[in-house]
Amino acid sequence: MREDERIITAIDLGSSKTVALIARVLHPEEIEIIGLGVAAARGIKAGAVTNIEQTVRSIKESVEEAELMSAATVGSVSINISGKHVKGDNSTGVIAITNKDRIVSSQDIMRVIDAARAIRIPADQEILHVLSREFKVDDQNGIKDPTGMVGVRLESEVHIVTGSATHLQNTEKAVNEAGLHVHDKILSSLASSHAFLTEGEKELGVAIVDIGAGVIDLIIYVDGGVAYSSTICIGGQHLTQDISIGLKTPIEAAEMLKKKDGYAIASEIDPSEMIEVPSVGGREPRVVTRKELAEIMEARMRELLELIDHELIKSGKKGILAGGVIFTGGGSLVEGLIPLADEVLQVGASVGFPKGLLGIADKISSPVFSTAVGMIHYGAKYGQEKQKTSMGKGILSKMKGWIQENL
Ligand SMILES: Nc1ncnc2c1ncn2[C@@H]1O[C@H](COP(=O)(O)OP(=O)(O)OP(=O)(O)O)[C@@H](O)[C@H]1O
Ligand SMILES: [Mg+2]
Repeated sequence: MREDERIITAIDLGSSKTVALIARVLHPEEIEIIGLGVAAARGIKAGAVTNIEQTVRSIKESVEEAELMSAATVGSVSINISGKHVKGDNSTGVIAITNKDRIVSSQDIMRVIDAARAIRIPADQEILHVLSREFKVDDQNGIKDPTGMVGVRLESEVHIVTGSATHLQNTEKAVNEAGLHVHDKILSSLASSHAFLTEGEKELGVAIVDIGAGVIDLIIYVDGGVAYSSTICIGGQHLTQDISIGLKTPIEAAEMLKKKDGYAIASEIDPSEMIEVPSVGGREPRVVTRKELAEIMEARMRELLELIDHELIKSGKKGILAGGVIFTGGGSLVEGLIPLADEVLQVGASVGFPKGLLGIADKISSPVFSTAVGMIHYGAKYGQEKQKTSMGKGILSKMKGWIQENL
């Protein structure tokens, strides 16, 4: 083991699967994946732990598999956070630059961020992230790092992400009961965006939409910073349920049909194309048109996209997303999603695949691994300081972590 290298582990607590990823970090740009474990998730619904015992089992299963592959022993991990209880809000802080030269110091930056953090957060919500959008010195705005600038008034714009303390405790409890320590909690959409997003795309303006099994995690970057984040509690499993009901077929068969024969635009399917659909209750399989399957899928996919569109409009940033919408997560693999998204959203759409890793990179190149891969990139980039941030140390170390995370 090289002296400067460290081992980090990320656990993606998804609604359909738990992923454990162990990485050897030599440098933020030189990360080797050495362990991967995937287990079916049984205790998580729409981002929230609904059954601790089953969640513990999935975590243990995935971690043991990853440990076996890597010969590493996992102690502490990063986990992702999602669900209806997570809230993203923008806030502004203002301070006077009081030192005699009127030069912005790192102390001033900490104070102005602290001022922005001081928004009223409900007692049961806990801060997960304070993400910098920009600073303003006197009348000059759009400043990324004001250190060393001269002025009398310093303003900060931040995006604050909070989660319900009870939900966070339950999730952490499951990880603890699996014998692990949580050193960092990362917003799912923020993690997924780190799997492939470039600084250039963040500057351009882009929305990352991770369509999972139970939730859609959305994050919007404008001018290099996070301008909006939200979660929609619907996902690929609803599509599977619709197919199961519509074609009177078991859930497992519906899931398979969706992946093998599914398409999101019915009018593009040849009406004479037939598919075999397994029946329930041991009856003979039936033959239906593939168009019928596509019609069921299109209805639900349109609904999903309209909900996403609603969020884009609500953010107030839809008109300036020059980088368009980048879909990821398992739901981004639905055939025909991109042309349907182009039609419904009217902004350029594409699919984001995890990148930038060495080792068994080919095994984790699917968008279902974006959250786990993004957590590794995030951990490699922000390291120990960020870890301290989430561990509730003193305000100064929190701010140090914040500055490292943002500037
Ligand atoms: N090739 C495919 N075509 C269509 N859907 C797919 C395909 N592959 C995966 N999916 C769907 O993607 C979903 C799983 O995605 P993912 O693994 O990103 O979810 P998750 O992280 O477990 O859940 P969540 O993020 O909602 O908590 C399932 O609904 C699955 O059916
Ligand atoms: Mg997910």
